[in-house]
Amino acid sequence: MATKIPESYIDMVRSKTNIVDLIGQTVQLHKAGKNLFGLCPFHEERTPSFSVNEEKQIFHCFSCHRGGNVFKFLMELEQISFPEAVIKVAEFSDLPLPENVVAANQQSQHSETRQLQKLYQDAQVLYSHILTKTQVGEDALNYLHQREMDDAAIAEFGLGYAPQQANVLLDFLTSRQVPRELLVRSGLFAQREDGTLIDRFRGRVMFPIQDQNGNVIAFSGRILVQKEHEPKYLNSPETKIFQKRDTLYHFAQARPIMRQAQTAILFEGFMDVITAFRAGVKNGVASMGTSLTSQQLYLLSRAAKKLIICYDGDEPGQHASAAALQLLRNSDFEVGVVSLPERKDPDEFVKKYGASAFQKQLQDHVQTPIQFTLAQLANKYNLNQDADRLAYVQAALQEIVKLPSVIEQDLYLKQVASQGNVDLAALHQEFEGITRQFHRQQRAQQRQNRDVTAPTAQQPPTPVLSTKLDGAAISERRLLYLAIRQDSLLARLSADEDFHFNNEQIQELFEAWRDYARSPGEHTLAAFVDLITPDLQSLLLEIEMMEVPEDVSDEEIGDYQRNVAQAQIRQALTAAQKNVQHATEVGDSEAEMIWLDQVLTLKRQLI
Ligand code: CTP
Ligand code: MN
Repeated sequence: MATKIPESYIDMVRSKTNIVDLIGQTVQLHKAGKNLFGLCPFHEERTPSFSVNEEKQIFHCFSCHRGGNVFKFLMELEQISFPEAVIKVAEFSDLPLPENVVAANQQSQHSETRQLQKLYQDAQVLYSHILTKTQVGEDALNYLHQREMDDAAIAEFGLGYAPQQANVLLDFLTSRQVPRELLVRSGLFAQREDGTLIDRFRGRVMFPIQDQNGNVIAFSGRILVQKEHEPKYLNSPETKIFQKRDTLYHFAQARPIMRQAQTAILFEGFMDVITAFRAGVKNGVASMGTSLTSQQLYLLSRAAKKLIICYDGDEPGQHASAAALQLLRNSDFEVGVVSLPERKDPDEFVKKYGASAFQKQLQDHVQTPIQFTLAQLANKYNLNQDADRLAYVQAALQEIVKLPSVIEQDLYLKQVASQGNVDLAALHQEFEGITRQFHRQQRAQQRQNRDVTAPTAQQPPTPVLSTKLDGAAISERRLLYLAIRQDSLLARLSADEDFHFNNEQIQELFEAWRDYARSPGEHTLAAFVDLITPDLQSLLLEIEMMEVPEDVSDEEIGDYQRNVAQAQIRQALTAAQKNVQHATEVGDSEAEMIWLDQVLTLKRQLI
């Protein structure tokens, strides 16, 4: 990106973002002492060596030695540049981007991406103008009104109408000198056999689909007058800017509300999202007419902890719910399922029972995944017939065994016993066998996973500290740690011309911090790490994650300094002794005398 992001803006973003929240979206963190720990997202590991310090707003992995602040985390995770990371963190914290950054960001994006976005934006403006302002759009507008869509909702969702004629969008864009090549690649047109272009969407109510930043990237068009052999909904084909698996309808607008409520609601259709919105449920999104993908879940996981699936109450809808639950099995979401009665979809439900009844469904009729699954099973079997009842019980036990808590298992065993009309003790006995088998399978699965993942692990973890630190090395680490916190110590060490750290990198860190501390403004560690090289970052974070007592007496500090100085003397002594040896070997007696003298002087300085 060409434009520099102002330093003050970077500071603001950093200070308004809690690193624990941001990392918590990707890594399951557990508190242990001052730090939070989890499995490092940058390499394969089974015991947590990844730590986050909330107070200092930094992370560090003791195993792969990666570390840094919020920005560094995203740079590593998503392999993006520093400015890109700043923008992503700002988006995460819902902070507006500075004007010049927005402009530069858009300009610098691959120009074709930009051009396609512009085409879609223009098309959206045209379609919505036709719907709301022209006679050609009248039927479509009436249709929407008849579906109880008011003008506010039409504006909010940017709805439009693509007329029946073949060339409406084509003429509009051609008059704006858009090159044919781009029109072809945009997916907004179909090609006739003779190679001429024709508007892809004709006679359809247009739902613009946006990416996570609110750019229009595709359309879904609902047919106005249902005809045979024509699909009810027609979607844009996938293009450079539109991938179905990465896209959720209405996500950009729903995200802040999801964050607030920490809950996202997933619907099947666009109409459902809009109806729910009008009914006051504004944290709803829909996947793109296909089953839920892990990419979509990832987007949602960064906005909410809880996910409620509210698909159509009919058979395909309930099937889709079950498939979504399967995908969600290993996620960290707290999952709920709402099954609307009478096989209705949310749109039909609201129409019949009203907004508040709908809200009530979403509040009071949320099933846990196991409740949903058991209810589905109970529906599938005829519980009045013995054979069916036993099949139901067997199928139910196979689900209950997957529950993590024994108490929960017990609860549902009771329910199944009474529903299936079987003896509870007998059921328990049966369940024990199933539990044993389940655990055997799990162990086998784990072994298999290990065999598969072990050789492909990207980086084998290196030992925590390859060389054990001696007393002097620990002392200088502590000294640096304290100098970063105590201005008086920093000033004293800076003023002392004889003083320097033995470890060159620690000396570099010391000097970098000293210069940084002299710069105007506030000084934080999380800001400082942006200014130094990755090698120094890694070392600094290792030091910062040490357990260093902060209220150290001056005497102790004196001890640290002495340890450092003594180590320097020992180094010099070793060098001098080597020189003596060398001088003896080559028979240079004069040099031998000088170096011997040096050895004695140094030895006297050793305590
Ligand atoms: N869909 C699609 N192609 C179709 C039918 C449906 O892509 N031929 C997708 C659309 O994304 C739609 C979703 O599946 O939003 C749900 O379909 P459906 O339940 O049939 O749509 P409704 O939301 O009920 O639409 P409407 O009320 O307008 O009939
Ligand atoms: Mn419907």
